[in-house]
Amino acid sequence: MSSKAIEAGGPVIIGAGLAGLTAAVELSPLPCVVLSAGQISTGTSTGWAQGGVAASVGVGDDAALHTADTIAAGAGLCEPDVVAAITGSAPSAIEWLTAQGAEFDRDGDGTLRLGLEGAHSRRRIVHAMGDSTGAELLRAMIAAARRTPSVQLWEYTTATEILTDESGVVGVLVRTGAGVIELRTNTVLLATGGIGGLFGHTTNPLTSRGQGLALAHRAGATLRDLEMVQFHPTALDVGIDPMPLVSEAVRGEGAILIDETGQRVIENPLSARDVVSRAEWAALQAGHQVFLDAREHPGAKFDELFASIAASARESGFDPITQPLPVHPAAHYHMGGVKVDLSGRTDVPGLYAAGEVASTGLHGANRLASNSLLEAVVCGRWVAQHWHSLGFEPGIAAQSPAGPRSVPEAKPAPVVAQVRRVVSAAAGVLRDREGLLAAQAELAGLRHHNAGLVGYLLVSAALERTESRGGHARTDFPNTGTAAEHLLVPGASGVPLVISEPIGAVA
Ligand code: FAD
Ligand code: SIN
Repeated sequence: MSSKAIEAGGPVIIGAGLAGLTAAVELSPLPCVVLSAGQISTGTSTGWAQGGVAASVGVGDDAALHTADTIAAGAGLCEPDVVAAITGSAPSAIEWLTAQGAEFDRDGDGTLRLGLEGAHSRRRIVHAMGDSTGAELLRAMIAAARRTPSVQLWEYTTATEILTDESGVVGVLVRTGAGVIELRTNTVLLATGGIGGLFGHTTNPLTSRGQGLALAHRAGATLRDLEMVQFHPTALDVGIDPMPLVSEAVRGEGAILIDETGQRVIENPLSARDVVSRAEWAALQAGHQVFLDAREHPGAKFDELFASIAASARESGFDPITQPLPVHPAAHYHMGGVKVDLSGRTDVPGLYAAGEVASTGLHGANRLASNSLLEAVVCGRWVAQHWHSLGFEPGIAAQSPAGPRSVPEAKPAPVVAQVRRVVSAAAGVLRDREGLLAAQAELAGLRHHNAGLVGYLLVSAALERTESRGGHARTDFPNTGTAAEHLLVPGASGVPLVISEPIGAVA
């Protein structure tokens, strides 16, 4: 297909969720182009986040405690220096978001209200409109980007290839309402979000299918710990795809997990997420149904605390105050990603990553709840600050030749449904060699498609990790290995496919 070439006039940021918009706003007054695959406010996990942003801003809390909780949840795969740096920046990230216009829930005297989520030793979840934190952050950051003249938003624009030569990045190929365009730049940020759309049960937008991972891999960048997927224990099981989330903050207010006989499925429903999901999976495998019971706690306060969850439960015919809610584990967050340092640099010159698509080393094998919005804003800012330090010439970013022209959403190719079926069956809450091998063989033939490629790399890494750790549970290797190591997938031409890397190796 022929394409025309345009100078971007600055970095191109692929993705308009919290990570991408933060980087763009922080880069001001230097110019950039931000791509959103659909309309700007759609297709992001950011907009759907409920619980909030983890930050040690409460009385009796500090960054060291936040660091310790993050590392404990991460099951040996966190990079301790990275954790300390990001959790230490959480209070200033809340201040920065507030300065951008985000309105967090506060008491009358202005003190931030704090929620509790699993494996946090303190109340430290900063939230907005109760359970609508993500919607508020997205609203505020879109408004901030729109009033920043140096930011050019290209809606309905999909990046399909990172263009490189021997010096590194030279551009991005994009599909727009005005056709295919080569956007010339030597600086690209991947901020494309997660991979939940590769699984049959997910809380993510179905368009979150790891496109950034495929773009990075094909451009030669190293991916890390791809097998580490977090399954959220309380996705509402009412036949909707993707599944509506019932925030962990509901358990933070006292809700419990029970089966159809009223027996508790797990004694401590606020254990780390991988532990809760496995207990729930065991109950489901044993033929039980699992419910989140909020009747006693938070009980009548449910609507006041969690208005949008209450509304979505009632839309599906369940009143959370009087009825237990049917729930199922669902692919929710990808700890794995494009390997980056704290400036967001990958090993391809000019290619950066931030937000869920990146692997900084913060989350290890199991993300602590509400640490991802934190990472998106902290690391999005650090990428832009690094770009400032490079001394880019001020210029003018290119306007979209298509304008905000809607492009009818292409139906997902049939291959996507096949990938979802195969990946879910082999790489769900419990995994084993036989299932992973079968999936690898089937996905090998689908690597021409981005979803097939990412699924193939993910199950290949899962096969290679012959232990159980965090979000990766192997029934044939139930124990955790003594030496924690990352698994790397080198860029497209890399051989072998998966190699290991000790914790603490310099990115
Ligand atoms: P996203 O917000 O997912 O944005 C991705 C962007 O990339 C979109 O604009 C999309 O259009 C664009 N894009 C993708 N591919 C392309 C392409 N090829 N070309 C152009 N554009 C592209 N985390 C927390 O910390 N706290 C929470 O309370 C919380 N709750 C959650 C609730 C739900 C239901 C979900 C799904 C996730 C939740 N998470 C939460 C996780 C968190 O929301 C995400 O990890 C985070 O928002 C990711 O932000 P991001 O900017 O990396 O990506
Ligand atoms: C939730 O509200 O349960 C989601 C929080 C998160 O994924 O961090």
